[in-house]
Amino acid sequence: MWAKKLGGQLGRPTQSIGGWLVSKMFKTRNQVLEESAVHLCKIQPEETVLELGHGPGLGLELAAKLLTGPKGHMIGVDYSEYMHQMAKKQVKEFLESGKVTLHLCDVANMPLEDNSVDKVFHCNCYYFWPDLRKAATEIHRIMKPGGLIVTTLRQSHIAALAAKKVMPGENWRPEAYMAALRDTGFTDIRMEDTHHGNITFQAIYATASTPDSV
Ligand SMILES: C[S@@+](CC[C@H](N)C(=O)[O-])C[C@H]1O[C@@H](n2cnc3c(N)ncnc32)[C@H](O)[C@@H]1O
Repeated sequence: MWAKKLGGQLGRPTQSIGGWLVSKMFKTRNQVLEESAVHLCKIQPEETVLELGHGPGLGLELAAKLLTGPKGHMIGVDYSEYMHQMAKKQVKEFLESGKVTLHLCDVANMPLEDNSVDKVFHCNCYYFWPDLRKAATEIHRIMKPGGLIVTTLRQSHIAALAAKKVMPGENWRPEAYMAALRDTGFTDIRMEDTHHGNITFQAIYATASTPDSV
């Protein structure tokens, strides 16, 4: 019972004590994953960058600071109303200047144009997508050919949560996510162990296919 409740709050936090507690955890325990995903994307000042399932908004803020060119633009999507509001406060100034846009929506159905995003990153998010192929198809649609997608995770932590039945189903497995990417037109898909201080985590990379690579 508690495992299902925790999984529900991790997957879509609500404005409640449970949602507040998990948001605190995101801000402290996931900071390294958010920072690393932004760093590994090698963001350039004029790019359009998207974070999926941004939660409280730490990664959005970091990435927006790197998009210093006039065309540089940061987009965030999350379908939790609570996280959407929390992120709005975190990036208030960037929203006001137009540098950041936030959408309250599902990753599998985003109000974004075809071939419009250079880089995508996400942390601790795909485990909760009920249909990985549907989400990956949508992500591929909005990415520019040759664009990079990076996700960061601590596989040992996720496996431990999955063993306690906190994660819904088997989509938390990196192989499931990577297979969905492969099936929907991504190439150069790989997972690497990466280090930050004494923390080891995994980074999964993929490239949106170009007309030459399909
Ligand atoms: C575990 S939290 C991670 C938040 C943040 N990225 C971090 O690592 O701290 C997962 C986030 O993804 C969002 N999310 C999960 N599935 C989603 C979907 N299908 N569409 C949009 N947002 C989703 C949730 O609402 C939640 O804010």
